[in-house]
Amino acid sequence: MAHKSTSIAAVILAAGKGTRMKSALPKVMHKVAGLPMVGHVVARALDVGAAPIAVVISQGMDQVAQVARDIAGEVDIAVQKEQLGTAHAVLAARAALGELDGILLVLYGDTPLITTASLEQMIDALESDDQCALAVLGFIPDEAGSYGRLVLNEDGTLDKIVEAKDASEDELAIELCNSGVMAIRANLVWKLLAQVKNDNAKQEYYLTDIVALARASGHTALAVEGDADEVLGVNSRSELAVAEAIFQFRARQKFMADGVTLIDPDSVYFAADTVIENDVLIEPNVFFGPGVTIKKGAHIKAFSHIEGATIGANTSVGPFARLRPGTQLGNDVRVGNFVEIKAADVANGAKISHLSYIGDATVGEEANIGAGTITCNYDGYLKYQTVIGKGVFVGSNSALVAPVTIGDGAMIAAGSVITADVSADALGIARGQQTEKTGAAKEFRSKKSAEKLAKKKA
Ligand code: UD1
Ligand code: MG
Repeated sequence: MAHKSTSIAAVILAAGKGTRMKSALPKVMHKVAGLPMVGHVVARALDVGAAPIAVVISQGMDQVAQVARDIAGEVDIAVQKEQLGTAHAVLAARAALGELDGILLVLYGDTPLITTASLEQMIDALESDDQCALAVLGFIPDEAGSYGRLVLNEDGTLDKIVEAKDASEDELAIELCNSGVMAIRANLVWKLLAQVKNDNAKQEYYLTDIVALARASGHTALAVEGDADEVLGVNSRSELAVAEAIFQFRARQKFMADGVTLIDPDSVYFAADTVIENDVLIEPNVFFGPGVTIKKGAHIKAFSHIEGATIGANTSVGPFARLRPGTQLGNDVRVGNFVEIKAADVANGAKISHLSYIGDATVGEEANIGAGTITCNYDGYLKYQTVIGKGVFVGSNSALVAPVTIGDGAMIAAGSVITADVSADALGIARGQQTEKTGAAKEFRSKKSAEKLAKKKA
């Protein structure tokens, strides 16, 4: 959704190392709902139609650039060699962004819960007031602590931002804090940033100083208030878990509002990109990894783990099912307990009810895959396809050794190891033939009980 007539650019600050994560990964690569934090922020920038988007990283954070590109396609990357402050970080993106008009949004790679609505609100504030140079997203935290304080004028506009370390007693008592997120008129931004100095407690170039600088040049500034939850900055694993919990809470509420039944919402985990249509029923303890779409009326039973899968209308999955990437289930499919499916296309009405592995396969309409059927897709070097036709009946405990094709309407006898193709409407049997020795069990028992008795006496 592009924004009205104004062009929007975004810069996402992500150069901080995040030492408190104690991780080999850059902080913003840690995931919330299966997506690196920086990915969430790039997605919100796209929501408001931002282009160009620049990400400021430090040396060696190539993975961050990749995640941003995976989501936005084209992204400008700026490397900030030393972290000399937030104003310095935005300036680092100047060459990458080039000359801009419209509005520049400043976002943070470690603030993944920022909402599109708040960004829209900031953009609206600038669009509706020509004098306004910038809008800042404020919030009221439980404890203001080390956050910058938003100092307001009597008319409610923003006077300046003071960092906690540089604040007076009176200023420290202000409840409205700086989230860091800003919308800045693009034709002013480089001019304002060029004036920022580092004569402060931290000897950093503070982005927050541009509020007072804009005011000094005759412009106004505004504060827009957001929710404390959405500006949560993640600095530690514990804050990462808080962000995850907030994300999941929001997702559960959203899905229920959209007509999805969650019997025990708190036990269901969604990914950032999960898509679920209405009248889907999800039982307790279900986990969704990335890339899942579920169509109307499907039923996901308890304790299922699902990623990279499309689930058709009125299909039921689980309990205890595992759907791995590349799974496509049609409509009215039944996938039962202890079934694992990977890279397989299962057509309408097929049933895989118990204890199976179906990988690198296609399963035709109305096929019935018996309990314990395994597609042997891997020889230790390469993977091979199994093709199961329409209406095929596979007897229990069969191994289908790929590459192999079972023709439409064929049957496979239980316990078969199928290594060659089976023709349409044929019966494939591949197991030892049954013979019967009359009375042999009885003879065996009398012989063995006599031996046992003799041993006891000796
Ligand atoms: C900043 C704000 C403060 C606000 C707080 C909200 C300033 C001067 N202060 O303080 O008012 O309440 O955020 O969390 O802006 N970064 C870079 N390069 C740098 C410096 C920072 O990329 O040179 C990135 C960091 O990775 C981080 C973000 O910018 O994600 C914020 O920087 P940080 O140093 O944490 O600012 P705060 O001191 O928290
Ligand atoms: Mg910080």
